Formats: sequence, C-alpha cells, structure tokens
Amino acid sequence: MNIKLTLLASTPQGLVELSRQLPVSEESVAVSSVIGGVRELSGEIERSRPDLVVADMPKLDESDLRRIEGSLAASPATSMIILSPDRTPEYQLEAMRAGVREVVPTPLANGELKVAFGRQLGRLQALRGGARQGRVLAFVPAKGGSGSTFISTNLAYALAARGRRVALIDLNLHFGDAALFLTETRPAQTIADVAREASRLDGPFLEASMLAAAPNLWVLAAPDSPEAAIDVRPEAVERIVSLARSRFDFVVLDMGRILDASTVRALDQAEAIYITLQLTLPFLHDAKRLMGMLASLGYARDKLHLIVNRWEKGTEISSDDVREALGLAVDLEVPNSFRAVAHSINHGIPILKSAARDPVARTLLDMAERLAPSQVERKRSWFGR
Ligand SMILES: Nc1ncnc2c1ncn2[C@@H]1O[C@H](COP(=O)(O)OP(=O)(O)OP(=O)(O)O)[C@@H](O)[C@H]1O
Ligand SMILES: [Mg+2]
Repeated sequence: MNIKLTLLASTPQGLVELSRQLPVSEESVAVSSVIGGVRELSGEIERSRPDLVVADMPKLDESDLRRIEGSLAASPATSMIILSPDRTPEYQLEAMRAGVREVVPTPLANGELKVAFGRQLGRLQALRGGARQGRVLAFVPAKGGSGSTFISTNLAYALAARGRRVALIDLNLHFGDAALFLTETRPAQTIADVAREASRLDGPFLEASMLAAAPNLWVLAAPDSPEAAIDVRPEAVERIVSLARSRFDFVVLDMGRILDASTVRALDQAEAIYITLQLTLPFLHDAKRLMGMLASLGYARDKLHLIVNRWEKGTEISSDDVREALGLAVDLEVPNSFRAVAHSINHGIPILKSAARDPVARTLLDMAERLAPSQVERKRSWFGR
C-alpha cells in the first residue's frame, strides 16, 4: 500500500521529534515534511492531497480551524491527526468538527501518538481493502487445567499445517507456557520485551520478536517471570493484536483465567471466544461464572463457543447437560486421551505430529478444516450456495 504522509511542525527540531515518534519504517509510506503553521499546512494539503497528516501545532483559534476545515473539504481523502497542548473535550470537539480525526495531547506520553497513528493507518488500509485482516480466535479456560493451552496451541499448529499464516499469542501473562507445547526451542523474546518497546513497535519488529515454532506458525511467548507482566500495558496489547491481524491469517490467543485491562484489549478484537471446560461440576460452575463475566464486559453471546475437553462416553454429566445448564450448545468435544496428550506436551511436539491418528489430533484437524477450508472445498461451497 502506498501512503502519502505529511508531517508538520513549527521548527526543524520539532519535525525530527515528530518523526522519531512514528513508525514510518512501515511498508511503503512516502513522507513529506513541512515546517510552518496553519497556512503552510493548508497549502500542502491542497497541493499534494496526502492520505494522512500529522501536525504538531499550538492551540488553533477559530479562524485557523476554519482554514483547516476548508482544506480538508478540498481534499476529502485526507485524514488528519493534530498534536495539541489543549486537552479539553471542548477543543477536541471543535477540532473534530473541522474534520480532524484525532487530537493527541502534548507533551506526548504512553505512546498515544503511535496508537492514534496505527489506528489511522489501519483505517486507510481497511478503506483500500488491501489489508490482510486476520481472524482472531481466543481460548479461555473455565478453570485451571481445562486444556485450553493444549487445544489453542494444537489448533494453531493445525491451521498452520493447512497453509495459513498463524500467530499464537500467549496472553497468560503471569504463568504462560504455550511455547512449551509446540517446541523445545526457548523463545529469545517475550511479549514483555515487545510491549516495553512500544515506541518502535511495528509489524516487522513484532514478527522478529516471535519464535518460529513450525512452518507458518509464529509464537509470541509469555513473560518468563510473573513480575514482567506489569510491563504489558493495555495499549501495547491492543497494538500487538491489531498488528498481528494485519500480518497473519489467524491470530490465536491463549488467554489465562484472569482477564484484566490488558487482556481484554485482545478479547475485544476476537471474532470468537472459546471457553474450555470438562464434564464435572466445578468446571460447569466456573464456566457459568465466566460467561456471566464476559456478558457484563459486553461480549455478544454469539461470540461465545463451548469446547468440552477430555470428553468420554457415558459420563455422569453429558454435553446435553452442559447445554441445559449454560444455555449454550457445545461446539466441540475433544476426546480424553491421556497418554497421547501427555506425550505431546512432555516433548513439546504437537499431537498432529506425535500421534496423528489419535482421536484428539483428528478432532483438532477437523476444527482447523472448518475454520480454514482448502481452496477446492471453498469453491465447492461457494457453488453450493
Ligand atoms: N484431551 C485431553 N486428554 C487428556 N488429557 C488432556 C487433554 N487435554 C489436556 N489434557 C491434560 O490437561 C493438562 C492441562 O492442560 P492445559 O495446560 O492445556 O490446561 P489450561 O486450561 O491451559 O490450564 P492453565 O489454567 O494452567 O493454563 C495437560 O497437562 C494435559 O495433560
Ligand atoms: Mg494454559
């Protein structure tokens, strides 16, 4: 994608400062720089009709805003971000009325400009329809030991084996262990390292920080110590997931049991939330509580899916009982297969590789096939429709 970006500041230093804040190394962005104020900016917008403008300017008065409004009206495809020392809602509103998309308060803090910039770039990409918009699937255990990590990691592997580019992000920030399920190689970087570098976080940097666990499969590992989770700020999680979406076909999230301000930013981007449980009362109980919590966080019910793990025939509680108790049908039953699963986990070898004929491997492959049909199947179902 070719983006025309214009940067404006009133001094050369201001301009240097501004470009330092922005990840303009990103794919094919052509930058032009302008030193000046509203007059220079208006001229530049009308002359070169940039896609995106980032302008660091003092507080604008009424006539400045009208001038900008006129220029933006003459170049309707231009999105504009202004940096401003005035952080009042009234000023924000005034600026928005003039057609400015975002007002970022100065002095800059917390990578706010970066987030706004990423958002506008994403918008432009979406408008042009050229961007990859990976599908985000989140896996949340109803309670500890339900098998959520085993299922999410192995599903990610199965999707990758079907030729899709897959990112697995370990959001169990305190005790994440997802990488261990897929490979014996230790990750050199974790999500905490990536989050700490918020100011240079872009697609290539994210990918370089991930562990290549198998062909087509990249893992962003959890921090190696629970304390490091503090460094993983909500804004960083939001940006990591949205960057991953722009570079992968599937983004699989292994969520911990504890949902907090950071992990919720990832869940917000999920098209489906898979709740893993087993067929005993404590799991049922906690699944109900989790569903209540997800509902109060505002997630639509049709986003939620139930996976019964370690399923066996003839248990006291059945999948039908689950449906009755939770008011939601079970989407998938993953059979119980202690030996094969334990072997896969102990050796860090995905079960599709270590025991391809095991019913657990087949079930997960089926799920991957439904999520990522092969080209021929896709055509057929299209004709079918
Ligand atoms: N289908 C299965 N059949 C038999 N055993 C299984 C199956 N799935 C998972 N297990 C066992 O359950 C254990 C817990 O799995 P896992 O670590 O994936 O759970 P989790 O929900 O991610 O737990 P945590 O809350 O600790 O993150 C595994 O060590 C494995 O031995
Ligand atoms: Mg887990």
